[in-house]
Amino acid sequence: RDPASTSLRTPIVAVLGHVDHGKTSLLDKIRGSAVIEGEAGAITQHIGATAVPLDIISTIAGDLVDPDDFDLPGLLFIDTPGHHSFTTLRSRGGALADIAILVVDVNDGFQPQTLEALDILKRSETPFIVAANKIDTVPGWNENEDSPINDTYESQSDRVRSRLDEQLYEIIGNLSDEGFSADLYWRVQNFQRNVGVVPVSAMTGEGVPDLLAVMMGLSQRYMKEEMEIDVQGPGVGTVLEVKDEKGFGTTIDTVLYDGTIRADDQLVVGGQNEPIVTDVRALLQPRPLAEIRTESRFEKVDEVGAAAGIKVAAPELDEAMAGAPVRVVRNRDLNDVIQEVQAEL
Ligand code: GTP
Ligand code: MG
Repeated sequence: RDPASTSLRTPIVAVLGHVDHGKTSLLDKIRGSAVIEGEAGAITQHIGATAVPLDIISTIAGDLVDPDDFDLPGLLFIDTPGHHSFTTLRSRGGALADIAILVVDVNDGFQPQTLEALDILKRSETPFIVAANKIDTVPGWNENEDSPINDTYESQSDRVRSRLDEQLYEIIGNLSDEGFSADLYWRVQNFQRNVGVVPVSAMTGEGVPDLLAVMMGLSQRYMKEEMEIDVQGPGVGTVLEVKDEKGFGTTIDTVLYDGTIRADDQLVVGGQNEPIVTDVRALLQPRPLAEIRTESRFEKVDEVGAAAGIKVAAPELDEAMAGAPVRVVRNRDLNDVIQEVQAEL
């Protein structure tokens, strides 16, 4: 690749964990919006993608993230459902991700889908950290909204602290049982060898600055080379979901992880029977910090660059498959691109 045309893309972060352990709440807290209230039955039915730019991460994380220390543009979070019946959505999220957050409720500890998520991360060799969530539920907890973990920990009584320590060490023990050497994140030197555990509350925002700082640090330190993409190259992505959208027909919610996709591009998309060749009709983007799956009015854009969540409207998408590859043809030979897509199916 020509270094002059490369740039660092946003790392893709999958949020995984057992049902109700607080994945959506955590992203909600980060987004500062209340997507959770729009969720039918409070079970996440669909995968969503949320882009959080570096300046917002730094605002939330305060002193823990100095934007001058980073040249990655931010983080792209993919929410996944914890309900046992959504295994494919979970593995798709895991497979797509550069890094992951495994959310574990400190009261509930390890549960079946926690173990399943760990297996997915193991298989895909995705580096991850554990968010030990709901620390605010420790009896006697003294809330310090949106505070870094060290500050709020200092302000707790001895009893609360030792109760939280017990819960955190239980999680560290569970991770060890699964073959992961883990520790509280501030004790971890090498995040490639050890799993960092970050105590958080999605409710009060305590520990969220730490979580974002660790994710940024992890991405910057270990993934920088993998994040290098050809900024103007033909886009490459994965279909998250195939959806009917009023006024647009069948659309594909896509996570773009390389290159760009333009409103006049020809695409090849993995289909149920054979690759689908089609022309983009519209690129529909969620507003920054908005969630693709709850966004009812989309903004039409001319071009989007990786990494991003984008809804693509195009004819012939009825047979498109979730999990299938999406490739932009642009100045290449159509048959070559069809073969690339076929090879990935
Ligand atoms: P699924 O998508 O169904 O797998 O669940 P989820 O992991 O996205 O959980 P969700 O964010 O929907 O949260 C489940 C419940 O836990 C909700 O009632 C939240 O309000 C509550 N909850 C989440 N995080 C916290 C937390 O940090 N503290 C407290 N007290 N409650 C929380
Ligand atoms: Mg959820």
